[in-house]
Amino acid sequence: MATAADGRLALPPLLRGQKALVTGANSGIGKATAIALGRAGADVVVNYVSGREAADEVVEEIRSFGVQAFAHEADVSDEGQVVAMFARTVEEFGTVDVLVANAGLQRDAASTEMTLDQWNKVIGVNLTGQFLCAREAAKEFVRRGVVPEVSRAAGKIVCMSSVHQIIPWSGHVNYAASKGGILMMMQTLAQEFAPKGIRVNAVAPGAIRTPINRSAWETPEAETALLELIPYRRVGDPEDIAHAVTLLASDLMDYVVGTTIYVDGGMTLFPGFATGG
Ligand code: BGC
Repeated sequence: MATAADGRLALPPLLRGQKALVTGANSGIGKATAIALGRAGADVVVNYVSGREAADEVVEEIRSFGVQAFAHEADVSDEGQVVAMFARTVEEFGTVDVLVANAGLQRDAASTEMTLDQWNKVIGVNLTGQFLCAREAAKEFVRRGVVPEVSRAAGKIVCMSSVHQIIPWSGHVNYAASKGGILMMMQTLAQEFAPKGIRVNAVAPGAIRTPINRSAWETPEAETALLELIPYRRVGDPEDIAHAVTLLASDLMDYVVGTTIYVDGGMTLFPGFATGG
């Protein structure tokens, strides 16, 4: 059976001629997304905060599709670094058409044990980081406006959220709050920017096999417990998310504005109620 990771499902060049910036693009969902956007014809900025080698590998893979790519180190929670990253992007690529605000992390702890540093770090990267990147991207989208040969929209922002924008998550209050915040930030930015031709949307992954949740799937026992939460009974692949982001950023989804696409194998369907209630 063909899987999402299978090359046979490779996307057509939906983003030919577009310039994309993906944050946190040297591992997990960000990496798969940067590669998928490149495969779809976009030039791609591969942002990372640490792990230069992994970022360079992603760049090489993207260049093998015949498009441009470069790696850029920046901490998305640092305003100056975000501003500088967008300035370099515009300098090297001329403009930017697609932002995938993906960078995110977890610093888990029971709420009574959670330090202010753990709280601030997660809010800073996951929520403030997305805001800073969206703000800088939107400035460039507005400056440039619509270029009809490139896209119907003046720009597209895809916020990487999570099922935890609506599913409460004990022991992860900083993370759940950051993702809940992304939902309202995304909708508000979508409302504010839509008249300017900018589409802001979110993708909300469920359990995807990446380093962030290794403990949830790395042993057979853990994976069995995890599958109980997934009606479709499969842990997601990063490519499942990458394909949704690529479609959402493309003109095929031009009328989709301010929406979250859940890519979660049904995790948000309250699976506990399948047999109870
Ligand atoms: C988290 C993962 C978790 C998944 C489903 C994601 O947003 O980062 O750690 O497995 O949600 O609970």
